[in-house]
Amino acid sequence: MATMQLPDSFLWGGATSDFQCEGGFGEGGRGLLTRDFETDGSVDTPRQLTLKMADGSRGSVNSSFFLCQPIPEGAEPCIYDDQYYPSHQGVDFYHHWKEDIALMAEMGFGVYRFSITWSRIFPTGDEETPNEEGVQFYVDVVDELLAHGIQPLITICHDELPAHLAKTYGGWESRHVIDCYLKLCRVLFERIGTKCKYWLTFNEINAIAGYIATGSRKTDEQTHYQCIHHMFVASALAVKMGHEMMPGSMFGTMYASSEIYPATCKPEDQLRRMQCRHETQLFSDVMAMGYYPYYAQDIFRRKGVKLVMEPDDEEILMEGQLDYVTFSYYRSAVVDAESPLLRMGGKPENPYLKITPWGWQIDPIGLRYVMNEIYDRYRKPIFIVENGLGAIDEMLPGGTVDDTYRIEYLTEHLREMAKAICIDGVECLGYTMWGCFDLVSLSTGEMKKRYGFVYVDMDDKGNGTLKRSKKKSFDWFKRVCETNGTNL
Ligand code: BG6
Repeated sequence: MATMQLPDSFLWGGATSDFQCEGGFGEGGRGLLTRDFETDGSVDTPRQLTLKMADGSRGSVNSSFFLCQPIPEGAEPCIYDDQYYPSHQGVDFYHHWKEDIALMAEMGFGVYRFSITWSRIFPTGDEETPNEEGVQFYVDVVDELLAHGIQPLITICHDELPAHLAKTYGGWESRHVIDCYLKLCRVLFERIGTKCKYWLTFNEINAIAGYIATGSRKTDEQTHYQCIHHMFVASALAVKMGHEMMPGSMFGTMYASSEIYPATCKPEDQLRRMQCRHETQLFSDVMAMGYYPYYAQDIFRRKGVKLVMEPDDEEILMEGQLDYVTFSYYRSAVVDAESPLLRMGGKPENPYLKITPWGWQIDPIGLRYVMNEIYDRYRKPIFIVENGLGAIDEMLPGGTVDDTYRIEYLTEHLREMAKAICIDGVECLGYTMWGCFDLVSLSTGEMKKRYGFVYVDMDDKGNGTLKRSKKKSFDWFKRVCETNGTNL
């Protein structure tokens, strides 16, 4: 058996997104984001996008992932004083970043993945010059990280965009937004480029949908894939510009990558599994290989999609291929011949796996499988940029949390990750645990679905002292970083 010794260069760390942790709404010149109109929800109550209807009355539509609804004619996203909007406060990283980075440093992080609030740098997205205060905030964060020996890994755009770009242009429906995105990239590369090697052009591009992430009021397949095509082009142009401006920089895009099993060895189930896999692989294939794969024709035919492309687009995609492939991995799914063609799989349930209270199937071996599958497909280095357990943590009287269940979840996943690297030979650059300090859940907008090594005193409605406290897993992960995983 090969020794389970990870490479010395392996990067351990954590990951967050701006709208789930940053807050600082209305401060430092930050403009409105599409996310700012989204309420909290729960596992049973979908998050809502609040609206002012054409007749002036109050309305809302479901904003969650693939269930999101279009915005009716004449209605506009609107913020109401009596509603709670989690992106406005996040967990107030905007005022706690030094403390949060110090805690990461204490754990021995080598890398911290975070995302940029686009509207903090370009409040509407349409300005010619950036908001200096916004740029400086991220320069300061990066400098603080580097002073602690932590490399930044920056997600340029995490499922959101300035609300003005959505309202005025329909978001990514318009090629104008490609230029706005590149303007953002140029500022980041100029001001942070020498300090940051690892970049991600977009987050979970295969799992986004609707107004919040694409800026479009519509949710039909034609509009969705046209928006995605524009994001592909924007990403490829950003990669090209980044390579020119920052020699040695590495570009990826992040994919939501749960493993999918066929329900039985019946050939029809296996065929369905492959077709579901293609629904996701389409995204990584285009971006990592530089062209639309053969099976895209079938997907677009079924969905009635006819992409509008400019003459140079194919060349742009080819020239802007990713350097490394990154993904999130939380769970696995099962499909049978009757399952709908979903990007993330779906029912039936897997009788061999446990599930979390949010219905996510826990599957450490699936991580090893996915790592092999992705590396085998692209033969480019991979990076696990999200993994973790969302759980209900209880603060004990002594001021700590006994999250042994989280340690168990992570230990099992990290052991499988080590096998993929040390036994199977997958080239994996690092691992960033999702939500290293507690933050607001993306899917439900709750605070009680916690992932962190650090507990943040805040409830589902944003009340609390925001005090940070170490959980039991804090010292455990510190040991993982110190020993480069040999204690697993
Ligand atoms: C990924 C996202 O989908 O999963 C994160 O990139 C998100 O933003 C994470 O938080 C976990 O999902 P949730 O819904 O548990 O917060």
